[in-house]
Amino acid sequence: MKCFTTLLSYASLLALASHVSAVPTPEISQAIEARQALEARQALEARQTTGVNSSNNKNTINPATAIYPKKAAGDAPYSVDENTLRSAIYIPSTFQYGKTGKQPVLLVPGTSLPGGVSYSNAFGKLLAASTYADPVWLNIPGYSLGDAQVNGEYVAYAMNYLSGVSQQKNISVISWSQGGINTQWGLKYWPSTRSVVSDFVALAPDFRGTIEADLVCSGLTIALCTPSIKQQRDKSNFIATFRSNGGDSAYVPTTTFYSATDEIVQPESGAGASSIMLDARNVGVSNNQVQDMCPGTIQIVLHEGVLYNAVAWALIEDALTHDGPGNRSRLNTATLCWALAAPGLNGITGESILLTAVPNIVAYKTHVFTEPAIAAYAK
Ligand SMILES: *[C@@H]1O[C@H](CO)[C@@H](O)[C@H](O)[C@H]1NC(C)=O
Ligand SMILES: *[C@@H]1O[C@H](CO)[C@@H](O)[C@H](O)[C@H]1NC(C)=O
Ligand SMILES: *[C@@H]1O[C@H](CO)[C@@H](O)[C@H](O)[C@H]1NC(C)=O
Repeated sequence: MKCFTTLLSYASLLALASHVSAVPTPEISQAIEARQALEARQALEARQTTGVNSSNNKNTINPATAIYPKKAAGDAPYSVDENTLRSAIYIPSTFQYGKTGKQPVLLVPGTSLPGGVSYSNAFGKLLAASTYADPVWLNIPGYSLGDAQVNGEYVAYAMNYLSGVSQQKNISVISWSQGGINTQWGLKYWPSTRSVVSDFVALAPDFRGTIEADLVCSGLTIALCTPSIKQQRDKSNFIATFRSNGGDSAYVPTTTFYSATDEIVQPESGAGASSIMLDARNVGVSNNQVQDMCPGTIQIVLHEGVLYNAVAWALIEDALTHDGPGNRSRLNTATLCWALAAPGLNGITGESILLTAVPNIVAYKTHVFTEPAIAAYAK
């Protein structure tokens, strides 16, 4: 049985802490709100400047055609300067810039961790060793704890950049957690990105937000509530805006993978599962809950578990090597559902990434009582 529940997950830490409650007064709330703008800059200092987690990368190659300030007329304006957006993309020295048949793949991190921690020792490694994919990842400044709308800018820019430096070839995107919202936000408000993305594979995305964020953003643990955590409450203005005007439906072929036993994103069962992507535009979507795919087996897959899961990996491979979304009917689930991890990965390493998540949240300097205002372009 896949069972790593003895390891402390950050959700259980946060949920535990939230049982001790103290509600801040409006005066304190206002004082803290007033400091937010100032502190937003400082918060971004909480980032690494070297190695696989760096958001200070020197990407000197310019895209074939300009993508900043806009690639196409319908694109939203960026609030972040181009150098900062571009520097957040970590491009391994092995990257081929579209010169071979390998498809560039952008790996988008989730809340509180950089792409390096999430992927370099996991699916990033497996993709790099494959014959069909050429992975790079994003290390979003502030570990994606800041405004999710701004995190979406990083993904939008990176999608166009990666295609632009890879002979204008299509790319694919794989996301984890909030990265799913950030990617879909990018596709929604930067329409030029849609024509260069062959596949969007979202691992444990919270397209409906999560009821767990309510726990973090109330009571004493409000000290751990950052802008993007506040925005990922199921009833936030951000989620309502995100889902509006067709944002709850795919723009490019989309494959989701999620687990009913996710300790961070809930609900993840039935038609109301947060990870479900709709398909009003008929571009091709497959929604894949691991328990549903693996009947007759016990699947205790946690939020971080989707980053090394064997079924998730098989779906990724399937999506990237076929037209349209990944399709479970092509997978050998009878075997896959019994695997402890994708080939070459292991659960202990996979689970351990969350150990750095809590310190990152605590270190983040801007904690909030109200969510960031909706950007003008999204109103
Ligand atoms: C990336 O970040 C993780 C967690 O913060 C850390 O353990 C690891 O050493 C970092 N890697 C590099 C190369 O800096
Ligand atoms: C690139 O992606 C778009 C959107 O998914 C798709 O319509 C188009 O066919 C793709 N082009 C190629 C050459 O795969
Ligand atoms: C998966 O493949 C089956 C068999 O070809 C097909 O009937 C089904 O529509 C496909 N599902 C998706 C989501 O593409």
